[in-house]
Amino acid sequence: MSGGVARRVAIASGLLMLLVGTGFAVLLFSVQDLRGSEQQARHSAAVLTNAHQVERLVSDLASGQRDFVITGQEKFLQPWQMAQSELPAQTSALDQLVAGSPGQLTRAEEVSQDVTSYLRDYSLPQVEAARRNPTSARTEAVIAEGARRVTAIRSVLDQLIGAEQQASAAEQSHSDAIAGRAALAATTGLVGSVVLVLGFTIYLTRAIVRPVLVTAAMADRLAAGDLGVRVPEKGVGEIRTLERTFNTMADSLGEATADLAASRARLVRAADETRRRIERDLHDGIQQRLVSLALDVRAIQADSPDSLPQLDEVADGLSVTLDELREIARGIHPAILSEGGIGPAVRTLARRSKLPVEVEVDFADRLPPPIEVAAYYVVSEALTNAAKHASASYASVEAHLEDGRLRLCVQDDGAGGADPTKGSGLIGLDDRVQALGGTLVVESPVGEGTTLSVSLPIT
Ligand SMILES: Nc1ncnc2c1ncn2[C@@H]1O[C@H](COP(=O)(O)OP(=O)(O)OP(=O)(O)O)[C@@H](O)[C@H]1O
Ligand SMILES: [Mg+2]
Repeated sequence: MSGGVARRVAIASGLLMLLVGTGFAVLLFSVQDLRGSEQQARHSAAVLTNAHQVERLVSDLASGQRDFVITGQEKFLQPWQMAQSELPAQTSALDQLVAGSPGQLTRAEEVSQDVTSYLRDYSLPQVEAARRNPTSARTEAVIAEGARRVTAIRSVLDQLIGAEQQASAAEQSHSDAIAGRAALAATTGLVGSVVLVLGFTIYLTRAIVRPVLVTAAMADRLAAGDLGVRVPEKGVGEIRTLERTFNTMADSLGEATADLAASRARLVRAADETRRRIERDLHDGIQQRLVSLALDVRAIQADSPDSLPQLDEVADGLSVTLDELREIARGIHPAILSEGGIGPAVRTLARRSKLPVEVEVDFADRLPPPIEVAAYYVVSEALTNAAKHASASYASVEAHLEDGRLRLCVQDDGAGGADPTKGSGLIGLDDRVQALGGTLVVESPVGEGTTLSVSLPIT
């Protein structure tokens, strides 16, 4: 069998219909046959009853006549008279009953004729004769003639009864055969249907239900972010198309996500490099220039003690401007990060925080610059938020390396209830971390403090 699932299902359904239909058709014909047989059996029973009835009436004729002839008493003629009145109806009923069977009809007609002849040519004249002269009717010859005629009638009736019994037996074995055929058809139909339905169910389960369930489970995992999932392309027809389409979709999604992550990483890297360059430019250019100007002013003051008092203000102003410039430069890009790495930079942030912060960084290794920058901004934003929104009394920062990843956890014991949709800080962190293929989880139940957990792959 080849073709799509729909074609296979149609073929299987057709087979099932054929099997069940054939079974029912055979059963229907059998039932009709059996009904015919039953009618035939009823007819045979009626023929037999009628034949026996005729036989009994003939016996009544013979015995009534005999008893009357022997005794001469009229009362013995009662059964003879009754039989005489009933026989025409019974023999004509027998003729009608066997009218469909030529052999039986011949016999029945022979019986009718013999009975008529018995009555007309023998019995009635003998009864009349006996009434007139009882002794004349009691002769051996007369009695033998009566017995011969009755035996002849009985013999034809026996033939008729035998033939009817034979026909009935043949009909019985025919109906037995029909019943056997019906039982066989029903059993074959039933077993065949069960086997076919079972096979059909197993086929549907294997070919459709299971692959669809697997694909649905994979779709769930894909929706949950597991872009590596693929379904085995083992189905047939439309199911294989579905599996292939699912895999193609997953491939496209994976490629699009990878492209997006790469592009985000490029953007973040470019922005970080620009900030670092601006910080270097400020540090090496304007900052140095301001420092040397301040030194010049101080030198003028030292050389000429009577120099203008306003020079003091200029020198102080230069010094404040320099501090402000340093602060701005540090915000743009922390020089301490480039110089000392995550440990020293995080400790500096902790020192500058308004809250007491406990720091635990258990490594001194230098990590790729994008990772160090991301870690720095996470800690910086989390500590700023803790001081700004949380009314926290305490914060902690933990960082360690594990299975090729940097794991970072910043906690505060404040009000909780952080909601990234209400600002840009937490969303910006998430973008930055995701751009590096990492994850950021914010847990902030109301009243139970806030925890930021970051995991970054070190590549
Ligand atoms: N540690 C925290 N404790 C309690 N609430 C917090 C905490 N951190 C953030 N929030 C809440 O979540 C919101 C979003 O924080 P997010 O850092 O994204 O934005 P922001 O701090 O308001 O503004 P931005 O960081 O852009 O200057 C905050 O407005 C604040 O209500
Ligand atoms: Mg913030």
